[in-house]
Amino acid sequence: MDNKALFFDHITKGYTCKKDYMVLGAGMLGEETITDALVKIPLKTLNRHGLIAGATGTGKTKTLQVLAENMSEKGIPVLLMDVKGDLSGLAQASGGHPKITARHEKIGIPFDAKKFPVEVLTISEQDGVRLRATVSEFGPVLLSRILDLTETQTGIVAIIFKYCDDQQLPLLDLKDFKKMLQFITNEGKEEIQSEYGRISSSSTGAILRKIVEIEQQGGDLFFGEQSFDVADLTRVDKEGRGVISVLRLTDIQDKPKLFSTFMLQMLAEVYETFPEQGDQDKPSLIIFIDEAHLVFDEASKALLSQIESIVKLIRSKGVGLYFVTQNPKDVPEDVLAQLGMKVQHALRAFTAKDRKALKLAAENYPDSDYYNTSEVLTQLGIGEAFVSVLNEKGIPTPLVRTMLRAPMSRMDVLTKKEIQEVLDGSEIIDKYNKTIDRESAYELLNEKIKRINAEQLKEEKTPKKRKTTSNSSSRRMDPIVKVLTSATFIRSVFGILKKMI
Ligand SMILES: Nc1ncnc2c1ncn2[C@@H]1O[C@H](COP(=O)(O)OP(=O)(O)OP(=O)(O)O)[C@@H](O)[C@H]1O
Ligand SMILES: [Mg+2]
Repeated sequence: MDNKALFFDHITKGYTCKKDYMVLGAGMLGEETITDALVKIPLKTLNRHGLIAGATGTGKTKTLQVLAENMSEKGIPVLLMDVKGDLSGLAQASGGHPKITARHEKIGIPFDAKKFPVEVLTISEQDGVRLRATVSEFGPVLLSRILDLTETQTGIVAIIFKYCDDQQLPLLDLKDFKKMLQFITNEGKEEIQSEYGRISSSSTGAILRKIVEIEQQGGDLFFGEQSFDVADLTRVDKEGRGVISVLRLTDIQDKPKLFSTFMLQMLAEVYETFPEQGDQDKPSLIIFIDEAHLVFDEASKALLSQIESIVKLIRSKGVGLYFVTQNPKDVPEDVLAQLGMKVQHALRAFTAKDRKALKLAAENYPDSDYYNTSEVLTQLGIGEAFVSVLNEKGIPTPLVRTMLRAPMSRMDVLTKKEIQEVLDGSEIIDKYNKTIDRESAYELLNEKIKRINAEQLKEEKTPKKRKTTSNSSSRRMDPIVKVLTSATFIRSVFGILKKMI
C-alpha cells in the first residue's frame, strides 16, 4: 500500500462510528485533501466537552457554526455566545460560493445551503428574548463568589438571605438586596443584632460597593423577573431539529463581570435542574462559549474553582461545554484536561513567546506518524485544523489535519430586519419580555421602616424603662456560626453546593 492508501485506512478506521455521528470534514495528507477520508464525531461523546483554538481569522467561529448546525440537524439543542455578532447568520441559508463548492468536492460530501431554527437572546438592552435571574436564585454562596467577597462579608450575605427567608421578603433584584443592606445597618440594626450578632457597617459598605460595580456593568438589567427557565434552551422544532439559541453579546467586551455572572448562574441552574443522565446516545444540550478568555480573565480564584467543578459534573447531565479561544492557555489547566474534542486551527510563530506556546499546544495532541505537529500548526490554511475527538469508547481518535466543511447557513450577520423576523417568530418572547416589578423586599422593607419609625416616635412620646440588653448566647455568637446552625439556611446555602461537590 502506498502512503495515501495507508493514511486513508488509518483515518477511516480511527473514525469509525457504530452509532449516529456527524461529519466535520476530510483528512489531509500534506496539502492534499483525501476525498472520503471522513472525520466523524460520534454524538455519544459530545457531552465530553471541547476546545476550538487558533490565531485570529483562522476559522474558529466558522467551526463553531458548522458544529452547531450539524448538532441541530441531529436534534441536539445548542446555546451559543455570539460575542462578535457573526453567528446570527445561522437563521439564514448560505448564499453559496464556488470556493465552498470546491471545498466540499474535495471533502466528498455535497454542499446544502440551509437555514436553522434560531432563537435570539440578550442579557442587555439589545433586541432579543430577555434572559434574567433573581437574586434569590443565585443563593448566598454563588452571589458571594461572584462578588468576590471575604468570609466575613459572605457571612453577612448569608444572614440577609436567612432573614429574608424567615420574614418572607422576596429578594428579586439588586434594588431589593441594596435595600436589605441599608436596612440591616440602620432601622433593622437592633432586630438583626439581637438575632445574629453585630454586623459592621464597613463590611456592608464593602458589599454595597461590589454590588454597584456589577450594577454599572448592566447587572440591574440581568437581576430580576421574569426569571429564565433553562428548559427553554432544550427545545426542538417541528422537524425535530434542535433550536439554536444565539445569545447576543456584542456589547459585553467591556462588561466581563456581567458575562461571568451570567455564565456561572446559568451553568449552576442547568446543573441543578437537568436530570441525571446515564449513558445516552446524544447530549441534551451543547453550550459554546466564543471568546472564552472573557470568562476566565476576570474570574477570581473562588469563581474559577466553581467553574472547574461545574465543568466536571455537568456532563453527567448530558450537557457539553465548548470553549472557543485564540490560545489554549486562555483556558485553565484543570478545565483543559477535561476537554474531549480538540480542534486546533493555525497558530502563528512570530515571537519566541509564540514558539513556546506553539510547542505547548502541540504537546496537547496525540503523536502522529503522518505529521510533525508543531511544524504543521503554523502551516494550516483558513478553515483547516488539527482534530482529535473521543471515539465511542471514550478513547482519543488519531490526530488528523482536517479540511473542514463550510457552514450551510450564512457566514455573516443578520440585518436588523432579519433579527426582527426571528423575534416575531419566537415562541417564548412574550413570556420573558415584560417588565415585572412585583412586591418584593424593597417595597416590604419600606413599609417595615415606616412602621419602625412610627413606633419609635410613639416610644419617644411615652418614655419607658430602657430595654435590658440581652446577654443571650445569640448575641455573643459569631454571625456566621449562628446562621450556620439554622436548618433553613443550611438547606438554601448547600442546595447548590451539595449537588455540585
Ligand atoms: N470552514 C470554513 N469554510 C469556508 N470558509 C471558512 C471556513 N472557516 C473559515 N472560513 C473563512 O475564514 C474567515 C474567518 O473565519 P472566522 O471568522 O471563523 O475566524 P476566527 O478564527 O473566528 O477569527 P477571530 O479570532 O478574529 O474571531 C471566514 O469569514 C470565512 O471566509
Ligand atoms: Mg471568531
